[in-house]
Amino acid sequence: MRKPLISGNWKMNHNHFDAITLVQKLSYVIDRHDVEAVEVSVHPPFTDLRSVQTVLEADKIPLALGAQNCHWEEKGAFTGEVSPAMLAKLNVRYVIVGHSERRELFGETDEDVNRKVKAVLKFAMTPIMCCGETLAEREAGATEAKVLRQVNAGLAGLDAAVVATMVVAYEPIWAIGTGRTASVEDAQAVCGLIRRTIADTFGPAAADGVRIQYGGSVKADNAKELMGQPDIDGALVGGASLEAESFAAIVGYRLMD
Ligand code: 13P
Repeated sequence: MRKPLISGNWKMNHNHFDAITLVQKLSYVIDRHDVEAVEVSVHPPFTDLRSVQTVLEADKIPLALGAQNCHWEEKGAFTGEVSPAMLAKLNVRYVIVGHSERRELFGETDEDVNRKVKAVLKFAMTPIMCCGETLAEREAGATEAKVLRQVNAGLAGLDAAVVATMVVAYEPIWAIGTGRTASVEDAQAVCGLIRRTIADTFGPAAADGVRIQYGGSVKADNAKELMGQPDIDGALVGGASLEAESFAAIVGYRLMD
């Protein structure tokens, strides 16, 4: 059984003071039973990571610490970059890799994403590797080709046993921050396609183990239906993860009407 993973991607929001307040609030409003059934990660900006780590560990808050990106090299002359070794040292467990904002706004290529996935794994953290199509690609019927290209390139060269431990996030770009969610059928169709592709390339055990998240305007009122799909094992949440109440409501999706 795959344990669902619900991740809050804070993007470039909340300074380290706000971050401390938010994780403390989350520790009060997230139900203890929810974190037994569902794994939860928070992904603050780099400048908040040390503060959030300290609070999570001191108060034994059962949230996994996540990052939003990293470089693929361990160290060196890469001004402005953050190394996976530095993240591992902060007990970061999950690293988002290849988010569409990194790809579209900062020119990350499939090859960059593949290097980053390998670097995250090398330092014993788990990549959340993102993929997804633009509206133009969807309207042109190119969704499958785009997603398959990103998944195959991002996972290239990995062992099947490692793929089984990973997380892939399907985030249709047109659904991000727009309030427009993919229909449950469309989301399931693409997540199912991702799992079948992983089965073809890496075998059934990898496909069975890999967790596939859906992201794109996930809210408390659509989380339960999305999470009920056979190939959706979690959610990558942007806007609704910035407030404790809205994120806790998604984490508690099992109890929603
Ligand atoms: P929204 O939930 O704000 O649409 O963002 C989704 C996302 O990009 C998470 O990585």
